[in-house]
Amino acid sequence: MPGVADLSPSTARPLPGSGRTAVVTGASSGIGAATAERLAAEGFDVVLGARRLDRLEALAERTGGRALQLDVTDPASVEAFAAALPRVDVLVNNAGGAFDTNPVADADLDSWARTYDVNVLGTVRLTKALLPALRASGAGDLLFVGSTAGLVSYEGGASYTAAKHGVHTLAGTLRLELVAEPVRVIEIAPGMVRTEEFSLNRLGSQEKADAVYRGVREPLVAEDVADCIAWALTRPHHVNVDLLVVRPRAQAAQHKVHRED
Ligand SMILES: NC(=O)c1ccc[n+]([C@@H]2O[C@H](COP(=O)([O-])OP(=O)(O)OC[C@H]3O[C@@H](n4cnc5c(N)ncnc54)[C@H](OP(=O)(O)O)[C@@H]3O)[C@@H](O)[C@H]2O)c1
Repeated sequence: MPGVADLSPSTARPLPGSGRTAVVTGASSGIGAATAERLAAEGFDVVLGARRLDRLEALAERTGGRALQLDVTDPASVEAFAAALPRVDVLVNNAGGAFDTNPVADADLDSWARTYDVNVLGTVRLTKALLPALRASGAGDLLFVGSTAGLVSYEGGASYTAAKHGVHTLAGTLRLELVAEPVRVIEIAPGMVRTEEFSLNRLGSQEKADAVYRGVREPLVAEDVADCIAWALTRPHHVNVDLLVVRPRAQAAQHKVHRED
């Protein structure tokens, strides 16, 4: 019948992620959870990793995918996680966070170590563990959720900006080292994203976390970043989105945020 799409299995186009397995770290909340959900909708077989297994299982039940406990700061956990994966085509290195706002003069070295461990060393651990599988895929994707904090500095941000600069450097180095191999290296660097836990973990109270987004009409939400991630991953495989910086319209630069009150 003219004008009516034929969606019979023989003629329906396969979804862009069909036949590909995507691992998403930090999939229990925020950007990681939204990315896992979006990639599942794009047809990827999604593996969700994070420490809070109950949250992963609830999401996997709703959207499809496989929930596996993962602590990126624990080598044994990373080893067991990698051993449980027969195939990996995409690794979304998203687990991370910020845990203080101290000026360098008052640096809390334990907080610096924690920030570096989860954002940088954790990312290196996962990347190293899954790189053989990504190479074997023949069309692998290594995607890093960096931050605009990895591209500039700001007062009170050094533990986090230093770590995210590390992630930026890691992505750049891998792009050089893997140039002859069928593995893309993609960095997505979001600015202000309103997620439930990120600012709460950093600032320690809901009131302070809410103040970060005060008067900003439309901060990015996790689904906006997931959309960018899905877009980059579903380009033809010769197209490598090196670095995608994405901010809300109200944030023209790290220090230039338009607030309406
Ligand atoms: N929100 C922003 O404004 C913003 C902006 C730019 C970049 N980013 C980056 O985007 C990423 C996600 O941030 P988000 O806003 O979605 O924050 P979030 O909601 O706090 O999510 C962080 C995720 O990382 C996981 N995680 C933390 N430590 C882990 C560990 N040791 N092992 C495994 N997973 C761990 C957490 O799960 P468990 O606690 O269950 O392990 C959680 O799922 C982070 O890398 C962040 O730096 C955020």
